Amino acid sequence: MSSYVTRKTPGDTAWFTRDRFGMFIHWGLYAMPARHEWIKNREMIPEAHYDLYFKYFDPDLYDARAWARQAKAAGMKYAVMTTKHHEGFCMFDSQFTDYKSTNTPAGRDLVREYVDAFRAEGLRIGFYYSLIDWHHPDFPIDMLHPRREDPDARQQSEGRDIRRYAAYMRDQVGELLTNYGKIDILWFDFSYGGRHGEGDKAWMRGKGKEDWESEALIALARKLQPGIIIDNRTELEQDLWTPEQYQPQEWIRHAETGELVTWEACQTLSGSWGYHRDEQTWKSPEMLIRMLVNTVALGGNLLMNVGPTARGYLDSRAEAALAVYADWMKVNGRSIYNCTMAEPDLLGSLPPDARFTQSQDGKRLYLHLFAYPFAHVLLKGLAGRVDYAQFLHDASEIKFTEGAVRHFSEGAAKGNDLLVLELPPVKPPVVVPVIELFLK
Ligand code: GLC
Repeated sequence: MSSYVTRKTPGDTAWFTRDRFGMFIHWGLYAMPARHEWIKNREMIPEAHYDLYFKYFDPDLYDARAWARQAKAAGMKYAVMTTKHHEGFCMFDSQFTDYKSTNTPAGRDLVREYVDAFRAEGLRIGFYYSLIDWHHPDFPIDMLHPRREDPDARQQSEGRDIRRYAAYMRDQVGELLTNYGKIDILWFDFSYGGRHGEGDKAWMRGKGKEDWESEALIALARKLQPGIIIDNRTELEQDLWTPEQYQPQEWIRHAETGELVTWEACQTLSGSWGYHRDEQTWKSPEMLIRMLVNTVALGGNLLMNVGPTARGYLDSRAEAALAVYADWMKVNGRSIYNCTMAEPDLLGSLPPDARFTQSQDGKRLYLHLFAYPFAHVLLKGLAGRVDYAQFLHDASEIKFTEGAVRHFSEGAAKGNDLLVLELPPVKPPVVVPVIELFLK
């Protein structure tokens, strides 16, 4: 059994740390400008113009079942979709606003279709819900608000009552956690309490747990969906630490106690979460696979994002990236699911340009070759510990020797504790080859 123990939290994280790989879906009106999901903030788009997106939002090609099939094929076991992003637009049929998908040409509850389709494919269901709301009339204008530079920003903000907004969030979270069956993850985003504006914007205030009334919001969620996993972005620590757009270099620890925590890196296929037509920084197949391996090798989960188009499909670049995962996971999923960081006494054997993961029952060690070596892999310290070795993707035997490289050449490595894997000269046709070591 894995010796790593994580800090206890209220939610049920057991399935989560087995499943390891999920799909993030950022979808909203911002898919129409197709220039980043923060576009309303970045370009300070006037309400009258942003209303055009609402007026013409018509995802006629949305087929949630196709997304669910693609997620499943990619090896993803759960998904988290934006029910409302910072723009405030609701992808579900909320009673508490008119600013929702059913009132656009879409005419449908897009969240309902997502839930039904993903659940039918056997995936767990998560909801992203933005704490920030750039549409709600009671959300006070602050440094991140699209109206922050309006000459009359302060007057516009007067009378806005964050208490009413906090109640609105509880109403909506109540709907989301009541009307769609079992929900596995609630992903709030995000807090910026303690920050304030500068100069003539000094009156602007960031927002945090007092503003969101996080305690009440979370109590409600826990009451409606016991066991649900909740992230830490309400400014109240819950189940999930969520590093974003960077790869942690070690297993994340609790800031005060130093305990290991349950963590999930969220990453994008390109540089934007929402559909971005002209963005060009799409990650290579090697990078996509390495990010997943790097994450599990440090005991984390990966939530990889897609930003569907406003027509409702995943564009060819996203499809190609998902196909990279599908091809790899189909034959290598065993080194990801139910796996975690290798035991401390094994980590010292890690050769260069490689990563270990280890099955949570401790019986199998997976060696991921980031750079394919010629013609041996030397694992110092593993002599006597491995019963059998094979490539994971085709279960073909990898021969090994112990104590020395089997070759007469001068300088061929020796060492009592050395385990030497003998590799074929040609890298097998998988982006990152994996060697499965059955431990004694
Ligand atoms: C950020 C951004 C956002 C994105 C999120 C995902 O906090 O505000 O657009 O939804 O990260 O982690």
